[in-house]
Amino acid sequence: MSQATPRSNEPLIHHWMPFTPNRQFLEAPRMLARAEGVHYWNSAGEKLLDGISGLYTTPAGHGRREIREAVAKQMEELDFAPPFQFGVPGSFRLAHELTRILPAPLSRVFFAGSGSEAVETALKIAINYHRARGQGQRQRLIGRARGYHGVNFAGWSVGGMVKNREAFGLGLPGVAHLRHTHIPENRHVIGQGPHGGLDLADDLQRLIDLHGADTIAACIVEPIAGSTGILVPPVDYLQRLRSICDKYGILLIFDEVICGFGRTGHPFAAQAFGVTPDIMTMAKAITNGNIPMAAVAVREEIQQAIFDVAGPDAIEFFHGYTYSAHPVACAAALATLKLYRDEDLFARAAAMAPGFLARIADLAHLPCVIDTRGYGLLGAADLAPGASPGARGFAVMRRCFDQGLVLRVTGDTVIFSPMFITSEDQLDAMFTILRRVLETI
Ligand SMILES: Cc1ncc(COP(=O)(O)O)c(C=O)c1O
Repeated sequence: MSQATPRSNEPLIHHWMPFTPNRQFLEAPRMLARAEGVHYWNSAGEKLLDGISGLYTTPAGHGRREIREAVAKQMEELDFAPPFQFGVPGSFRLAHELTRILPAPLSRVFFAGSGSEAVETALKIAINYHRARGQGQRQRLIGRARGYHGVNFAGWSVGGMVKNREAFGLGLPGVAHLRHTHIPENRHVIGQGPHGGLDLADDLQRLIDLHGADTIAACIVEPIAGSTGILVPPVDYLQRLRSICDKYGILLIFDEVICGFGRTGHPFAAQAFGVTPDIMTMAKAITNGNIPMAAVAVREEIQQAIFDVAGPDAIEFFHGYTYSAHPVACAAALATLKLYRDEDLFARAAAMAPGFLARIADLAHLPCVIDTRGYGLLGAADLAPGASPGARGFAVMRRCFDQGLVLRVTGDTVIFSPMFITSEDQLDAMFTILRRVLETI
């Protein structure tokens, strides 16, 4: 039976909320009205701890004056300029700044407005690259089960989350998936699991054997799968993917929309794991979540191959967004990168990680917790399912909110991704609330 949309919250019904049970939300809206540092305040003025850095977006803390002032100044100076055929100084500065923290071969940067747009851009670059080199038959894209690459058509097609796929038809043709890397042998391992890395990565070889390497354009993975519950790659997994891609001329894409900008204690997960992709997507923390922005970084030769086949005055890449390199977003990103640098925030994340991960590991002692895992400042605990799949996770999220903690759940998995400025006392307070809820759920 269909559930009626409650009418009691009449003024709220017009906003169709994303990834939210809208009807349930209207019964008891969770409104976040103000934020500063590691805290939110709800509309009743009650203070809550932010355990997930916005949505992995805001590691430097909410309400940063430096970003706010840079944004205000930019809006006074130049609010908007067309990104096609014209440039704004900030975007060139930003691309250059990014190359200072990216792994060295990634030296050309294309801007977009969201992680989903960055993924679409990356996949289109991959296909265009092969076509430019006379290998237009390379059109297949390889994703991974339990991957999340945003919600646009190519992104959900290479993604591996059934609920994001089943309502929307067939998706992109020519997509195949690796198995995910969450295997029982690595249960309760914090960091990289010792089991399964080579075998799971060899799924790519199996798909090559099935489809033919020269039909495959790219393989896209999140170095650590974030949205489906912090799936850390087993030992040797990413290295093996890299070597298979190298052997067969397949582009390796890392989707670092969550992992990027210090979350692993390194600028990017590529550096944390010592594996460099050919293309990398990033978003979220690029502006500390203050203004929507995303980017795709590629090796120079990928850009060059696409440039080489275009006439001297021709547009080389028929792709772009009205809000690519928006000047205000560029100003926010430049101020954010400066904050990361000035406050040495990636090193702070690295220093915080062992204590944080020990707290995650400690959740394993609770009877309802069936797996714990984490890396850097990403941690997760799987709960034994309750009455129906996801019901217990949802109840935990709601009770934590009522007790002053914002965290994220996916199904029956609880996810933590604290800000890099979180103090030990604040971490303790977050875990105290979560433990209290888990002990009574
Ligand atoms: C790995 C990854 N890729 C892509 C996206 C999509 O980003 P957006 O929601 O900004 O479109 C996300 C969002 O969480 C993500 O985690």
